[in-house]
Amino acid sequence: MTSIPADASPDEPAAGRPLSLATLAVAAGRPPREPFAPLNVPPTFASTYVQGGPDDYGRFRNPTWSALEEAVGRLEGGRALAFSSGLAAVSAVLDEVPVGGVVVAPVGSYSGTLAALAKMQRSGRVGEVRTVDVADTAAVEAAAAGAHLVWVESPTNPLMAVADIPAVVAAARAAGALVAVDATFCSPLVLRPLELGADVVVHSATKYLSGHSDALLGVVVVRDDDLEQRLRTTRTLGGAVPGTMESWLVLRGLRTLHLRVQRSQASAQVLAERLAEHPAVDRVRFPGLPDDPGHSRARAQMTGFGSIVCAEVRGGVAEADSAVAACRLWIPATSLGGVESTLERRRRHAGESVEVPETLLRLSVGIEDVEDLWADLDAALRS
Ligand SMILES: Cc1ncc(COP(=O)(O)O)c(C=O)c1O
Repeated sequence: MTSIPADASPDEPAAGRPLSLATLAVAAGRPPREPFAPLNVPPTFASTYVQGGPDDYGRFRNPTWSALEEAVGRLEGGRALAFSSGLAAVSAVLDEVPVGGVVVAPVGSYSGTLAALAKMQRSGRVGEVRTVDVADTAAVEAAAAGAHLVWVESPTNPLMAVADIPAVVAAARAAGALVAVDATFCSPLVLRPLELGADVVVHSATKYLSGHSDALLGVVVVRDDDLEQRLRTTRTLGGAVPGTMESWLVLRGLRTLHLRVQRSQASAQVLAERLAEHPAVDRVRFPGLPDDPGHSRARAQMTGFGSIVCAEVRGGVAEADSAVAACRLWIPATSLGGVESTLERRRRHAGESVEVPETLLRLSVGIEDVEDLWADLDAALRS
């Protein structure tokens, strides 16, 4: 089982030592300790505040968002802004590209981000989108020349390509481009891109940060004051603000992130190793496997290997679909990062990249008993 380093946070020391990320996930973003104060920030349902201070309207701020933002910011080592969904967070960052600007983006990455970029390109808002294999550092370096934004996903969703983030950052810096990393697959307990030099971290907090498949929310984390201010303005004027209830749910989910991550990562490793030997599986993509192309990079930059495993089923679409349909415990569902294990054949979505094999199943490993998960999966694949 992967442990989270005790000295991983640059944040305030407790009794002379920095708080671990596991502790921060529990301790950050709480109200001041006063007699009879609640331990948790309660949900504040308010569109309107009594006049007297700045930003006295609910589209500018809300105490429940602030608590979540403080906690996520501490975990990432930056300042967080919450948005109404992951894609709203992605869009706010894409809005940083100047009109007609150039964006480098990974092939086989999240289809929603690629679709948003394609739409921006069609309207002329973005001049060029250069898609590259983000694991091919030389290709990223070549594409970065003249770019304004280098977008990274690592591992990519769903091809599981692992980027050499420090090398990508260096190439982007040389080109004067901003680097944004969508770290949704990892959560800050597994990957901290700001520490690797990235300018921006994006999360679909809908996934691991929330962890319970009951809220849509996005987060952007940065260190630069001007960038933070611009993103805040984009949020206020674009109106993609998070809901109070969603913010509260995600903060509640965050309290157990370290336990969920430890458990699901350990199970993902077991399942990936067994799937790699399974007669009904052609290929497993999981950076925790020693022969995976992203293994050594993932070892160097991540704390563990995450809990998404992609498997290409032997045969064709019919075999892949019937394996999904035969599962009894695994839930056929899109999305990922919940306590419950889910799987889907990604190409069933019309918008998925053609680079993604038709038979690729994306498995999001939850926190159930690993032997129950294996028994169900093995039987479904053999059926
Ligand atoms: C990597 C990644 N980024 C962003 C998003 C978008 O997040 P949301 O669905 O919360 O808008 C997703 C959703 O699946 C995702 O997987």
